[in-house]
Amino acid sequence: MILKIAPSILSSDFLHLEKEIRAVEKAGADMLHLDIMDGHFVPNLTFGPSIVKQVRSVTKLPLDAHLMITNPADFADKFINAGVNYLSFHIETDANYVSLFRKIRKRGVKAGIAINPETSLDALPGVIDEVDYVLIMSVHPGFGGQAFIEESVEKIRKAKEIIGSRTVEIEIDGGINFETAKLVKEAGVNILVAGSFIFNSHDYTKPIAELRNV
Ligand code: DX5
Ligand code: ZN
Repeated sequence: MILKIAPSILSSDFLHLEKEIRAVEKAGADMLHLDIMDGHFVPNLTFGPSIVKQVRSVTKLPLDAHLMITNPADFADKFINAGVNYLSFHIETDANYVSLFRKIRKRGVKAGIAINPETSLDALPGVIDEVDYVLIMSVHPGFGGQAFIEESVEKIRKAKEIIGSRTVEIEIDGGINFETAKLVKEAGVNILVAGSFIFNSHDYTKPIAELRNV
């Protein structure tokens, strides 16, 4: 299976964001992962639609927005207008999932459900027919550079079972490096998010190629 590599700009040099984006694009990234944090759903803040719009203007890569915010329904349209291609929000929010997935897909954007490490997959069967991808968090959301939570591998297997023959992708996010990428690939992921593993490297071509050929 071909893995898509999605560098998370959370670990990039924000003072040189355009340069960083062009560098990962040139290094072979398949999409760009954008971590949106509200200081409420997670204990950290990042950026909003206006910066995403500027990111859109400097790259052709698909933009993958991961909303770690309490009220995704209030912001979905704003991120779609800013030009994202993938949009996920968390199952731990009290959003009306189905209506929000439908709204996102109606606008031609892929809809994803994101699931925290401590959250079970019990609610997944109820939404699986409404989504294009499942984002499994393999660290506690909020910060880059954390260690991969091993139990996530089993969770990927379970998600894969629930997905069955549907065309729903699995994205893994958190603590991905050369070693953990092997484990999650075997378990069946399609999209690898990697922040620190890529951006802490001097030459982005190397970690991206390593992840893809794991
Ligand atoms: C964490 C974010 C991740 C983060 C991953 O809340 O969702 O996307 O950037 O960073 P690494 O790859 O360093 O764990
Ligand atoms: Zn993320």
